[in-house]
Amino acid sequence: MSENELRFAQDRLYYFPAQEVSVQNFDCSGIILDIGGGGKGIVGRLKGSQVVAIDLSKEELEGAPFGPLKVIMDAREMRFLDATFSAATSFYSLMYIQSFDHGRVLSEVFRVLIPGSRFFIWDAIIPHRLDEGRDVAVFPVTIDVNRDSVDAEYAVLWPKLILDLPYYENLAQNVGFEAVTQREGERFFFLELLKS
Ligand SMILES: C[S@@+](CC[C@H](N)C(=O)[O-])C[C@H]1O[C@@H](n2cnc3c(N)ncnc32)[C@H](O)[C@@H]1O
Repeated sequence: MSENELRFAQDRLYYFPAQEVSVQNFDCSGIILDIGGGGKGIVGRLKGSQVVAIDLSKEELEGAPFGPLKVIMDAREMRFLDATFSAATSFYSLMYIQSFDHGRVLSEVFRVLIPGSRFFIWDAIIPHRLDEGRDVAVFPVTIDVNRDSVDAEYAVLWPKLILDLPYYENLAQNVGFEAVTQREGERFFFLELLKS
């Protein structure tokens, strides 16, 4: 990237205030599916070799810490049998998936979960565009996981829809999930869903 292009890119960024996100452990004795599990590999840091991390990007998976089984796969069309996993997770991954694909991904997660298991989602709350000149939303976060502190910046092209807790909860209920727990910070949420 040339210096000009880089400056242009910087001009497009809208930085939200830094958030502290604490990832609490959860009980699960079987295999856990992590959607978009590359990058910082937060769920892998929490649950290690119990995790199957899928991601579209080989590079993102290679960059994530050792531990999970890493598989290049599209969450919109998973290659797993029905009722395979004892839990599923998504840590700041849904924001990287286009809104028109969210229903498809949630319905795929529902399909591959064993009845009685849960889907845990941590993600950014993205409002309508706040500055017309800046079309990239950047979320700096400090993540507290397994007694470690991990710094990350998650950035996406600003979506057309508001992506918040009610948005995902509604989509999840449409595919059959029941919402069990909801928590919100200033710019992030946690949602626990059950496939009964
Ligand atoms: C920023 S990462 C999420 C953060 C990551 N979970 C962590 O712990 O740091 C988002 C990931 O979602 C992946 N992704 C986007 N669309 C996807 C899809 N349809 N299927 C699987 N992974 C996808 C991207 O390749 C990217 O690596």
